[in-house]
Amino acid sequence: MRHIGKAISTVLLVTNLGGVAQAGELAKGKELHEFNCLSCHGTEVYTRENRMIGSMDSLITQVNRCNVNLNTGWFDDEVEAVARYLNESYYKF
Ligand code: HEC
Repeated sequence: MRHIGKAISTVLLVTNLGGVAQAGELAKGKELHEFNCLSCHGTEVYTRENRMIGSMDSLITQVNRCNVNLNTGWFDDEVEAVARYLNESYYKF
């Protein structure tokens, strides 16, 4: 599963080099999130009433924390892409 995620993120990264920042970044974040982040919690933690995250900064920090626990080896731009995707879809800061 993780290998598939890596492969897809690599493809997305390469196709993203041409520019088209925003849409490409969100698509990349979505893929990375779907393949890596739904094993412990679903998306309900992002929208629950007493959610922990209150700003874009702490969202990036939390994505990084979960990411480090997972040992995915994501680069900063991948962490940021996932944080942006979560913000666009759920947090809306
Ligand atoms: C090893 C298990 C695990 C995995 C895999 C995991 N998380 Fe988490 N995550 C947690 C736990 C535990 C919490 C805290 C949940 C709670 O307080 O109920 C959490 C909470 C969060 C929150 C905060 C939710 C809130 O309250 O606003 C975010 C954002 C988040 N995770 C993002 C991610 C992302 C992005 C990934 C993929 C890189 C990921 N998680 C993968 C365990 C995990």
